[in-house]
Amino acid sequence: MEEAIQTLQQWVDESQHIVFFGGAGVSTESGIPDFRSVDGLYHQQYSQPPETILSHTYFERHTEEFFRFYRNKMLFPDAQPNNAHRKLAELEQAGKLTAVVTQNIDGLHQKAGSQCVYELHGAVSRNYCTRCHRFYPMDAVMQSEAVPHCDCGGIIKPDVVLYEECLDNATVDGAVRAIAQADLLIVAGTSLVVYPAAGLINYYRGRRLVLINLEPTSADARADLVLHDKVGRVLEQLQVR
Ligand code: OAD
Repeated sequence: MEEAIQTLQQWVDESQHIVFFGGAGVSTESGIPDFRSVDGLYHQQYSQPPETILSHTYFERHTEEFFRFYRNKMLFPDAQPNNAHRKLAELEQAGKLTAVVTQNIDGLHQKAGSQCVYELHGAVSRNYCTRCHRFYPMDAVMQSEAVPHCDCGGIIKPDVVLYEECLDNATVDGAVRAIAQADLLIVAGTSLVVYPAAGLINYYRGRRLVLINLEPTSADARADLVLHDKVGRVLEQLQVR
C-alpha cells in the first residue's frame, strides 16, 4: 500500500466521526462527467454557457430550452455507485462516518446505501409542481416532452439548486453541524470553486483534513494529506475495521 493511503488508513482507524465532503469528481468513475475538467460539461459548446442555462432566470425565461439541456446533460438514470460511494456507505454502517455532504444531485450515495447525506444542490429524483407542490419522480421529467406539467397545469421543477437560488437552510445547517463535529474531514472530487457550498469546509475544527482530487485545489495548502488521485481508487483500498 502506498504511504499516503497507509496514512489515510491509520487516520480512518483512529476516527469515529468522519465526514466526507464531495463533488462531481466522486461520480466520474460512475460515468457521469464533472463540470470543470477538460472533458467536463463546462468545456462543451452550447449556445449559452451551462452556468447561464442552469440559472433561475434562464429556467423562468427559456423553460423549454432549460429542460432540453437538463434531460440531455443532467440525468443519468442508469448510473451505478462506484467504489467511493460503496466504501463511504460501508464506513457509515460500521459507525465510523457521520455524514456525506455532497454537491452532487445524482443520488448515488443513497443508492450505495448511505443514510445521512446532505445534498447541498438538491436531487434529480425530487421534482415538484411549482403551483400545487405535488411531488413527482424523475420519470415525470424524463418521459415528458418539452416542459413537464402537473395535472393542475403548473410546471414541474426539479428540486435542484440553480444558479441565483439559495441553498436549503435545513440542509446547510445539518451539513455545518456534521462538519463542525467531525474528527476527520475528507474532501474529494471537487474543484471547491462554487460558493456557498465550498465555504462549508471552513467549519471544520478537527486536526486532520484530507484532500483527494485529481487536480490541485485552493485547499491543498491547508490539508494535512493530499492525494492527487481518483477517489474511487483511493477509497477502495481502505479497510473498514
Ligand atoms: P467540478 O467539475 O468543478 O470539479 C470536479 C473536480 O473533481 C475536478 O477538480 C476534477 O479534477 C476532480 N475529479 C474528477 N474526477 C475525479 C476522480 N475520479 N477522483 C478525484 N477527483 C476527480 O465539480 P464540483 O466541484 O462538484 O452546481 O462543482 C461544484 C458545482 O458546480 C456543482 O455542484 C454544480 C456546478 O455548477 C450546480 O449545478 C448548482
